[in-house]
Amino acid sequence: MRYQGREVDVEGRVRLVMESALTARDRVGVQDFVLLENYNSEATFIENLRRRFGENLIYTYIGSVLVSVNPYKELEIYSKQQMERYRGVSFYEISPHIYAVSDNTYRAMRTERKDQCILISGESGAGKTEASKKILLYYAVTCPTNDHMATLGDRLLQSNPVLEAFGNAKTLRNDNSSRFGKYMDVQFDFKGAPVGGHILNYLLEKSRVVHQNHGERNFHIFYQLLDGGDNDLLITLDLERNPQNYNYLGNCPRLSSVSDKNNWKVVMKALSVIGFTEEEVQKLLNIIASVLHLGNTQFGEREEGETYITTETQITNLAKLLGVDGSALREALTHKKLTAKGEEMISPLDFEQAVSARDALAKAVYGRTFTWLVEKINHSLALKEEIYHSGKGCSVIGLLDIYGFEVLQHNSFEQFCINYCNEKLQQLFIELTLRSEQEEYETEGIAWETVQYFDNKIICDLIEEKHKGIISILDEECLRPGETCDVSFLEKLEDTLGGHPHFVTHKLANGKTRRVMSREEFRLLHYAGEVNYNVNGFLDKNNDLLNRNLKEVMCQSDNQILSHCFRREEVIGQKRPEMAATQFKNSLTKLMEILMSKEPSYVRCIKPNDAKQPGRFDEVLVRHQVKYLGLMENLRVRRAGFAYRRRFEAFLQRYKPLCPETWPNWHGRLADGVSALVNHLGYKAEEYKLGRSKIFIRFPKTLFTTEDALEAKKPDIALTLQTSWRGYRERAKYQRIRRAVIVIQSGWRGMKARRRAKRRRQAAELIRRFIKGFIYRHEEYCPENEYFLDHVRYSFLKNLSKNLPKSVLDKNWPKPPPSLDEASEHLRRMHMRNMVTKYCRRVQPEWKKQMMQKVVASEIFKDQKDSYPQGVGRLFLDSRLEREQINLKVIQTLANDKVQYGVSVIKHDRRGFKPRSRQLLLTNTFAVLVDRTKTKQRIDYTTLRGISVSSLSDGMFVLHLPNEDNKQKGDLVLHCNHVIELVTKLAMMASKVNHVNISPGSIRFAMARGKEGIIDFVRGSELKVTKGKRGHLLVTAPRINST
Ligand SMILES: Nc1ncnc2c1ncn2[C@@H]1O[C@H](COP(=O)(O)OP(=O)(O)O)[C@@H](O)[C@H]1O
Ligand SMILES: [Mg+2]
Repeated sequence: MRYQGREVDVEGRVRLVMESALTARDRVGVQDFVLLENYNSEATFIENLRRRFGENLIYTYIGSVLVSVNPYKELEIYSKQQMERYRGVSFYEISPHIYAVSDNTYRAMRTERKDQCILISGESGAGKTEASKKILLYYAVTCPTNDHMATLGDRLLQSNPVLEAFGNAKTLRNDNSSRFGKYMDVQFDFKGAPVGGHILNYLLEKSRVVHQNHGERNFHIFYQLLDGGDNDLLITLDLERNPQNYNYLGNCPRLSSVSDKNNWKVVMKALSVIGFTEEEVQKLLNIIASVLHLGNTQFGEREEGETYITTETQITNLAKLLGVDGSALREALTHKKLTAKGEEMISPLDFEQAVSARDALAKAVYGRTFTWLVEKINHSLALKEEIYHSGKGCSVIGLLDIYGFEVLQHNSFEQFCINYCNEKLQQLFIELTLRSEQEEYETEGIAWETVQYFDNKIICDLIEEKHKGIISILDEECLRPGETCDVSFLEKLEDTLGGHPHFVTHKLANGKTRRVMSREEFRLLHYAGEVNYNVNGFLDKNNDLLNRNLKEVMCQSDNQILSHCFRREEVIGQKRPEMAATQFKNSLTKLMEILMSKEPSYVRCIKPNDAKQPGRFDEVLVRHQVKYLGLMENLRVRRAGFAYRRRFEAFLQRYKPLCPETWPNWHGRLADGVSALVNHLGYKAEEYKLGRSKIFIRFPKTLFTTEDALEAKKPDIALTLQTSWRGYRERAKYQRIRRAVIVIQSGWRGMKARRRAKRRRQAAELIRRFIKGFIYRHEEYCPENEYFLDHVRYSFLKNLSKNLPKSVLDKNWPKPPPSLDEASEHLRRMHMRNMVTKYCRRVQPEWKKQMMQKVVASEIFKDQKDSYPQGVGRLFLDSRLEREQINLKVIQTLANDKVQYGVSVIKHDRRGFKPRSRQLLLTNTFAVLVDRTKTKQRIDYTTLRGISVSSLSDGMFVLHLPNEDNKQKGDLVLHCNHVIELVTKLAMMASKVNHVNISPGSIRFAMARGKEGIIDFVRGSELKVTKGKRGHLLVTAPRINST
């Protein structure tokens, strides 16, 4: 953000601009004179200039007029950066500068499509030419370039050294004083690129060619040629290097500030850039040399009064250089041709006439060549045809570099013309300023207020009016037959203009004025001040006569430049060419028309001292210029209305902190905002007016008060700005984070949604495949059902893995899908085997024994005997008898055969079935029946034929013993509560597992001597062993609620 109103310049020093400059006004003054409270005071005006000059602020505005004071030193304000600084910036926003004027003009041309002009005026040495060069340079650097005309900028810039060489000279006031007026048009295409240029020249000071005041020089080109031209060139021109040898060059010492030699190179280069051919340059130099030779042409007077040329060699040189016939030239220089009554007569010139004829020729040759030079440059700068025709609206910026009012000790015809020109320019200024002021009031809708100003029309008329004006009278006097001289002209003036309020002569003046006027002078009261003109030479200068025979000679020149400059028609035609003053008047009228059609800007140049010294401010000299530049008048016109005007937005923007309603921002109409603001500030009705887009403030004081209030308010504003800036920064930070969060959020949501959608799609697809698979589930494995089948398998296996039977006894097994029947079965078996293996690994040896016994028990009894489920469920003990329960004697009898198992049994006698309590002990090879201490019977396993039990729940069992010999007592009928356990162990030990029979109804058994006993078994409520009829043993076995 650029802090409005403050600028830091290249030196880093704070340069205050416009309004804020008001606060520093004590030091650097105001940068616009319209802000001077006392605008009628010349002293205040000059004091303001002085202060600024002291601070190296050489530029100051009067409204849109730029006043520039020559610093006579290089200031660091013309760099490229400075150009950039002023580019596109509003006029008032930044310190006054020639670049601001240039830029403003350029932008006005571009935006309004209206031709512009910049009028630069001021005394000789005040810096006009420098200013115009700065403007051109600004355009050359900052404007876009047109490929077509890339070189145009160069040519425009290069035209300067050429014109300066031929048109500038050292004067007492300025080492490089332009001795002609220049108006230059720069044409821009619709893109704003410079595409063409045109120069109009005014009033070349030709008299300088033949005569210069003491301490002044002729035009630079002569010295440059002599100093810079190489020897060969000088030889061809028959010139010597020493300027002292030439009468026309006076005896002015060399310049210290200017190097003629270097400038010669610059000019020669410039000529070629502009497009002069070598031949043209040669011809041009021939003419320059010929002028020097003319100056050295001397005349002698013979006794009979005849004039002759004493320097014959000069004539030869001249003839060669001018390309004319030598004798014709000699003749023409010493004779004049008259036409009387249709007859041509030749009459000799007297000495003085011959000298002035020679000088007239020199002036004419040089003057016309200069005009040719300008034409030639114009040709080179001319807008090329094709661009002109395709030129969709070329616009023009004109630059007028012309002398300001000139008031010398002796003022002659030249000063008269120049001051007349300035009078016209002032008229234009008033007209245009008032016009633009009025236009502004109109567009702003403000009632027009008459502006009091000095209308200088009366003076312009005094000079230029037909028949009555000074120029008309002068022309008349020149043409009048009979004796005319400057004095008769003065008398004529007195006759015609006597009594005019702006015209005085010695005769007409009152005593006081008379004292400061000579008898040969007339005084004009210009708008800027009074100037006395000496009439001596007026007629001659106005006549600007060149003898006809000299013209004729020049017409025949074979130097193309001269034959172009001296036209045959001029000699043949009887019509007298226009007088110098009239010519000037006409060209001025044309110039006014040109300027009138354009939007003007003004640069007024002031010279601070005559010594060309930096830092010196000669108040007397400056006051004189301020007067003759009409600056006070400028200011008065400008201030007649309102001192200050500013667009609403700019005004509001600057002063809004001063009113709570408009601070920090005004949201309504701008006009209302400004209105609220000025009401709050207490502006009185007569102090200001509101237009459509601008506020007009009548007195600077009003503005200053406002400005001071703003200054006082600044700390508050700074605070507010700081707070709101911080707020803004934090808000911005927060917004940034928020935006980031949203981005992440939406990214994440998007991703989630995409995932979900993908999952849904997959799910739908899956369901579809599933359904399809289901439909095809009975088909062979194929793409349609592969998923379904795989899934069924998979889920079966998955389910199976979770529901595997935990124990061998658990026979549950999930039902497999048909395709997995086989695999399922495999798995089931593997699992079972695995469980068994695992189980087996876990089994202890005793348990293993137990199991083995149970397996055997199962083999024997399973599903055969009612008590089996009960019996097998119990633990098979190693022995049912404690060791102490077995009689020691019995153990001793058994000796080595260890009792493996012992149990209490009841033995039923074979006869009578009497029950007797016994112990049955089993060893590895036999069993013994023991009755307390006695071993009753030993049964070798080898002899055991078999074992019988009933199928019921009773504990009866029969051991079948051998009966081949009758000595045997028969089979043993026993009862044991642990019949399953006992029989199992016995069968295992005796290896008689296959010899256990289980009889459902009855068991037959052998008794002694071949007899046979029978045991019948029935089911009853409780166990009962009784002797039945027929001698059978009847065993009632209780029913067992087997499940
Ligand atoms: N802006 C400037 N900065 C520095 N020197 C300047 C400036 N303007 C003028 N001068 C000096 O003043 C001299 C005369 O200026 P010039 O433009 O030739 O005057 P004018 O054309 O008005 O007669 C220049 O040669 C230069 O030395
Ligand atoms: Mg100049």
